[in-house]
Amino acid sequence: MNRIIAAIFLALGPALPAASESIYENIKVDAGQTLYDAKCRRCHADDSTDPSYGPPLENIVGRAAGSYPNYDYSVALEASGIVWTPAALRAWMEDNDGFMPGTKMRHVGITDRTVQDFILAYLASITTRDGSKVSE
Ligand code: HEC
Repeated sequence: MNRIIAAIFLALGPALPAASESIYENIKVDAGQTLYDAKCRRCHADDSTDPSYGPPLENIVGRAAGSYPNYDYSVALEASGIVWTPAALRAWMEDNDGFMPGTKMRHVGITDRTVQDFILAYLASITTRDGSKVSE
C-alpha cells in the first residue's frame, strides 16, 4: 500500500511545485484582502463604480498617480508625476505623507514587509480582474 502511495507521489512530484505556488498566491491574496478590509477599505472601494472617500484602488498597480477621473486629489498627488509600481506602493504604505508631503491621505505606516506583500498581492489581484497583467 505504502509503495503505491509513494509511486503516486513520485508520479505527481513534478506537478506539485506549480500547484503549490498558485495555492500560495491565493493564500497571499486572501490575507491581503483581510488586511485591506481592516486598513484601507473604509476609505478605498476596490470597485470604481462604488463611491468612497479616497480614490478607488481598482487597477492601481501600474496606474499614474492622481489619474482616477472625477476624484478631487490634493495638488501634491496630482502633480507628483509618479506611477504606482509595487515599489512606490510599498513606500506609500510605509510612510505616505513622508513619501509625498502635502497628500491628504492620513498616515497609515505599514512597515512590515510581509503585510505589504499581502496587500500588494491583493492590489495586484484587483488590477488583473479584467485580464490585464501587472509588471514589476
Ligand atoms: C482615512 C482614509 C484612508 C485610509 C485608511 C487609506 N487611504 Fe489611501 N487615500 C486616501 C485619500 C483621501 C487619498 C487621496 C490623497 C490625495 O489626494 O492626496 C488616498 C490615496 C491613495 C492612493 C493614491 C491613489 C491614486 O489614484 O493615485 C493609494 C495608492 C492609496 N491611497 C493606497 C492606500 C492603501 C493601500 C491603504 C491601506 C493600507 C490606504 N490607502 C488607506 C484615504 C485613505
